[in-house]
Amino acid sequence: MQPPRLDTVCARPAASAPSTSKPLVPPLDLSIVYTLRSLDHVDAIYNKAEPGYIYARDGHPNATQLAAKIATLEAADAGLVCASGMAAEAALFLAGLGQGEDVALSEGLYGRTVGLITRELARFGVGWTSFDATRPETLKEAINPRTKMVFVETLSNPLVRLADISALAEIAHSANATLIVDHTFAPILCQPVKLGADAVTHSATKLIGGHSDLTLGLVAGTREVLDRATPVASTFGLTGNPFESWLCLRGMATLGIRSERSCANALALAEKLESQPAIKAVHYPGLASHPDHARAATMLSGGFGTIVTIDVGERSQADAFIRALEHIPFAPSLGDVATTLSHPATTSHRGQSPEQWARQGITPGLVRLSIGIEDVDDLWADLERGFAALS
Ligand SMILES: Cc1ncc(COP(=O)(O)O)c(C=O)c1O
Repeated sequence: MQPPRLDTVCARPAASAPSTSKPLVPPLDLSIVYTLRSLDHVDAIYNKAEPGYIYARDGHPNATQLAAKIATLEAADAGLVCASGMAAEAALFLAGLGQGEDVALSEGLYGRTVGLITRELARFGVGWTSFDATRPETLKEAINPRTKMVFVETLSNPLVRLADISALAEIAHSANATLIVDHTFAPILCQPVKLGADAVTHSATKLIGGHSDLTLGLVAGTREVLDRATPVASTFGLTGNPFESWLCLRGMATLGIRSERSCANALALAEKLESQPAIKAVHYPGLASHPDHARAATMLSGGFGTIVTIDVGERSQADAFIRALEHIPFAPSLGDVATTLSHPATTSHRGQSPEQWARQGITPGLVRLSIGIEDVDDLWADLERGFAALS
């Protein structure tokens, strides 16, 4: 038989490398499509009679591995990998809400989450009400016969208020609504599903990825929620890709020690910041002065989170503070291994009215610190440059 021509040799995929040993770490599977033996084989995979993959938007090995990991981390039945934190939220909203139905949103949610409902899904007839996640009685008033879903963040941005998840779950369920928790700010510190939530979402772009080099979202929750959200995510094209799933698993390997160190640094800095005369206010749930400290002490374990928000006065003082720091960069994200800072009034809460700011306690001098794993004394030395610029 004529051997294949050289261009054919080049074009055909390489044969699998024979091996009786297995790689220690999960390989990266970039193939967007899988080869199938027969029509019966396709049926068996679609019907879940045999494990396998067909098309990467519907599923691929790196997403399966990451979904299993987040399901375990969140004590959930199942997980789902989405292209971003927003894609994870969109998958749950699109799966759980329809025309003429409402979602109850806690006050002070991430701005794009609010926009997704109030600007985008509102165009399709989804309505919303709002409530205060730290005062569950306000949810009772926000729920109406159309309410199908309740959405909260474990720790709010930027004042790190802690939602009373167990009480909110009870109220949501008594109204036949699901409780979804955006757990981006507090992975590993508590498991909202164990507290009664039906599902959690994460922007894995933040603490779970941990290195500011991937954009990904995760969902973990009950079988019922995931069975509905998984095909919706594929149909709307919201699922995550192999490389970022692989990178996220790699980042997640150190989540435990990163969280422990960052939380310890955050607490030490928050305590010192509280006695720093140039600082007007310090918001951190690990401080006895924080309004949710008592709940945080029972609900969270392993630390009080990695976000410390300070008020340095006027906008001009926030600007001077930011300019004076040598090592802590102004980078409007969070959850990196290294400390970063953001200014909510000009970034995450930009464009909101003074009334909206006032309701959420946002002032022009608020600076949100995302504390990393550096030596805490080096962080303090940099912050001292900022204090000097304030006086
Ligand atoms: C609390 C919270 N939820 C969701 C998101 C959206 O995540 P992503 O940027 O990965 O879409 C963010 C992003 O900043 C966030 O802070």
